[in-house]
Amino acid sequence: MEKFVIEGGNRLEGSLSVKGGKNSILPILAAAVLCSSSEGVELYNIPDIVDMHVMTKILQSLGARVKYKNNTLLVNVEDLQSYTISDELMREMRSSIFLMGPLLARLGKVRVTYPGGCAIGPRPIDLHFKGLEAMGARIKEEKGYIMASASRLQGTEIHLDYPSVGATENLMMAAVLARGKTVINNAAKEPEIVDLQNFLNAMGADIRGAGTETVRIIGVEGLGKCSYRIIPDRIVAGTYLMAAAITGGRLLLKGIIPVHLDAVVAKMREAGVGIEATEDSLEVIGGRLKGVETVRTLPYPGFPTDLQAPIMALLTVAEGNSTIIESIFENRFKHVNELKRLNADISVKGRTAFIQGVKKLYGAEVEATDLRAGAALILAGLAAEGTTVISEIKHIDRGYERIELDLQQLGAKIMRI
Ligand code: UD1
Repeated sequence: MEKFVIEGGNRLEGSLSVKGGKNSILPILAAAVLCSSSEGVELYNIPDIVDMHVMTKILQSLGARVKYKNNTLLVNVEDLQSYTISDELMREMRSSIFLMGPLLARLGKVRVTYPGGCAIGPRPIDLHFKGLEAMGARIKEEKGYIMASASRLQGTEIHLDYPSVGATENLMMAAVLARGKTVINNAAKEPEIVDLQNFLNAMGADIRGAGTETVRIIGVEGLGKCSYRIIPDRIVAGTYLMAAAITGGRLLLKGIIPVHLDAVVAKMREAGVGIEATEDSLEVIGGRLKGVETVRTLPYPGFPTDLQAPIMALLTVAEGNSTIIESIFENRFKHVNELKRLNADISVKGRTAFIQGVKKLYGAEVEATDLRAGAALILAGLAAEGTTVISEIKHIDRGYERIELDLQQLGAKIMRI
């Protein structure tokens, strides 16, 4: 079992560039199933993260051929031999549910199990089902499996009760080969939805409106080969900005899309962090940290729930009080108890966390309970006096490509043991 050992107290300094986003590559890999061309798709800027490998393993189990080298992925799904995702693979990653839409569209049927529990609370998939059913899919449960079928999906108008990222993506992928026009109202507006639209259109789909609350898809007969470069990971970028800020350091983050981080930069500035932006970079220039009245997680363009734990780490050492409201997930405060082991002063009531800034964090043994909680603990460890040992770092590897190497390059004392 690997662990991170961090000797805290070093200012981070230097520059980094950020690779493609986990939340882009997972739906895009699912969408690759829609390409029946013998030449397949070529994807660039692909991060070497565990979740990406799990998704390619799932595609291979369905009959795809996949090659990964130098952050480039070649995916050929000319022969699709199976419409069943095994329970074992479904349990490995929630995002396997993204394959429902594309498999239904391409093969007319799909068999999956429920993606299972999740450390950040219940994550229902009712909106995915409702949308697929509105497009004519029959969905039933059979011996623990969910079986969906439709000879050809039918375009329709769908109103999502909540702008779910995954449901919007699943329904977009289902609709690209459907008969006629599909309109998704109250769609999620995350940049990764735009990335998915651009990828699908590069394969020959006809989609407009991603990034707004209405996505319109006109069904086409088939999709073909394409080469596509995915967008940089805004959550990794935000994590690194906060890592620099919590150490009072200086970091130039290159190759990013700063506008994707507007809400994050605004809150960090409110917390006293100096940040300068250019068209494709953000630079953190230290600053004396102060508490912020409220950070409320919201669907994009609001403050992302995936950076809630990291900003909490930052605010634990800010002067004064801060409040964080988690409005997306029911139970996303598992990092609180771990941060408290490092001397953070935090109390939680329902979905609100109250943070009283402390002068110092002190190293301790902690556990990464999930991906972003793990990132928050690294940040806290970088600022803490003494040694912090983080266990269960497999969660961190799901979404950060060898995070310790990037941080070491900036002068952090962090080791994987
Ligand atoms: C995606 C991201 C995840 C991020 C989240 C919110 C990927 C691979 N993951 O997850 O990193 O934290 O968006 O920005 O892109 N909901 C329902 N019914 C549904 C679907 C969702 O009630 O059918 C609820 C969920 O329980 C949750 C909220 O909607 O409370 C947001 O979920 P959703 O936007 O679907 O998140 P994911 O797509 O799972």
